[in-house]
Amino acid sequence: MSRTKIVAGNWKMHKNLEESLALTTEIRGLVRDEVKAKVEVILCPPAISLASMHRLLEGTSIHTGAQNCHWEDQGAFTGELAPGMVKSTGATHVIIGHSERRQYFGETDDMLANKVKSAIRHGLKVLFCVGESLQQREDKTFYKVIEKQIREGLFGLDRKEFSSVVVAYEPVWAIGTGLTASPEDAQEIHHFIRRLIADFYNPEIAENTSILYGGSVKPDNAKQLFAMGDIDGGLIGGAALKARDFIEICKAAGA
Ligand code: PGA
Repeated sequence: MSRTKIVAGNWKMHKNLEESLALTTEIRGLVRDEVKAKVEVILCPPAISLASMHRLLEGTSIHTGAQNCHWEDQGAFTGELAPGMVKSTGATHVIIGHSERRQYFGETDDMLANKVKSAIRHGLKVLFCVGESLQQREDKTFYKVIEKQIREGLFGLDRKEFSSVVVAYEPVWAIGTGLTASPEDAQEIHHFIRRLIADFYNPEIAENTSILYGGSVKPDNAKQLFAMGDIDGGLIGGAALKARDFIEICKAAGA
């Protein structure tokens, strides 16, 4: 299988500059060849830390990514970050469509589609998040919800653009709650997402797209999740803030 295994740490609004550099140094010191050879590791800190972390990671295989960006190249958008600015820090990735952005900052599928296109145009790879709420899981509308998020967020891309996309399935009810989708339930959704991609683009593109799972991934459940055929790694929140836990999860992805 030619898909890249990926583990990305989403630090959310944690760690100031000094703390970010300390955690990065710790993670850098713990990444061994077994992880380097098999897993793409990406650290997504608060944006203020991106440039300094990139310098600290120079010469290693660890990448950096932002947690969000705007779709415009520049302009009067106080407080926002343009994709070219993210790129100028040395970052290679950007998370787009995280459920916290959708929920607390009113980001719509339309806005997200613009962000994705713009980020890719600036040479960034996109970690695009989708996932259903507890209500949507219970009333069994989750397939529809996920399909809409994927279609509207991503399917405006041409094939070449789509090759810069990594999908992250993150059920909202599993984020930061300690609840995790069972490996079988997660696999079912990952398979569904891959089929959507195969039907819209083609089976080869679907086969080559990495689809990550996110939502309370910890060292003790990572192995079972990553063992599933369509789960190609994880987007990690809480456990990414502890270097040893994060590395254990990286190892599980490479196992
Ligand atoms: P969690 O967060 O691992 O703390 O559940 C995952 C995420 O929101 O990306």
